[in-house]
Amino acid sequence: MSSNMNSSYCQAQVVDLMQVQLRFLTISDVATVKVHCLDWFPIEYPDSWYLDITTDNGKYFSLAAVHLGQIIGVVVAQTKGLESCREEDQEILSAKFPLDSRVTYILVLGVCREYRRSGVASLLINSLLEYLRNEPVQNVTQRSRAVFLHVLSDNMAAISFYSRRGFVLHSYLPQYYEVRGVARDGYCYVRYINDGHAPYSGLDKIYHWLAYRAALLAGILCHLPILILKRWRKIARRMLT
Ligand SMILES: CC(C)(COP(=O)(O)OP(=O)(O)OC[C@H]1O[C@@H](n2cnc3c(N)ncnc32)[C@H](O)[C@@H]1OP(=O)(O)O)[C@@H](O)C(=O)NCCC(=O)NCCS
Repeated sequence: MSSNMNSSYCQAQVVDLMQVQLRFLTISDVATVKVHCLDWFPIEYPDSWYLDITTDNGKYFSLAAVHLGQIIGVVVAQTKGLESCREEDQEILSAKFPLDSRVTYILVLGVCREYRRSGVASLLINSLLEYLRNEPVQNVTQRSRAVFLHVLSDNMAAISFYSRRGFVLHSYLPQYYEVRGVARDGYCYVRYINDGHAPYSGLDKIYHWLAYRAALLAGILCHLPILILKRWRKIARRMLT
């Protein structure tokens, strides 16, 4: 990997997608993927996780976009039964789908800074969707019904990316992340595929709209006393020194 590849300050360059190849990750990519993920995400993962997502163990769809021999983007997704998802994520599908229905979780989607806004992430996501739509299965009911992910609520680039690519907001996740010791809010976004669909009736939509607003308000009200306390501590410190 060239040293300027990881710099945050590189000039954006338009990459010709015709020169971008797609290939699955292999164990020899561990170090590169780790360097990229540390640059792309504010969360650190253990080495065993990097080994897991790059090993050909049939658990993940781990695809790399490669330009001039260098990895410039990665998507990693895992298809699993609804029953093995977190409780709040099990509601992404209508209750008419049994708990053994399959859904796909995006663990990683990232593109090197200097290659962004050239369609690389779109290429990776489209490849994932294409694969899931045509996945060889014995019975079509085994096909993944939804692709979903969690995103920090202030990651506007990713939110814009997913919204423009047919993903819809499923839920607001207050204090879902812990980033360097600080609790941060997140969202769950979903794209339905292979006839999968949301559980919402008209009433559910109103309920979720209200719950989302209430959660936002609760978030603001919870932070207010902390802000006031911090302000008072600052004033008290100034008075004491
Ligand atoms: C989100 C991310 C994967 C997008 O990759 P990308 O290769 O730039 O995406 P594409 O070129 O395929 O699509 C670009 C679209 O994404 C959205 N987008 C990307 N960067 C954006 C930004 N800085 N501000 C607003 N929208 C942005 C826009 O909808 C844009 O479309 P446009 O160029 O027509 O306006 C990339 O910004 C990234 O790697 N971010 C850091 C890692 C991350 O946050 N991943 C998502 C975690 S859930």
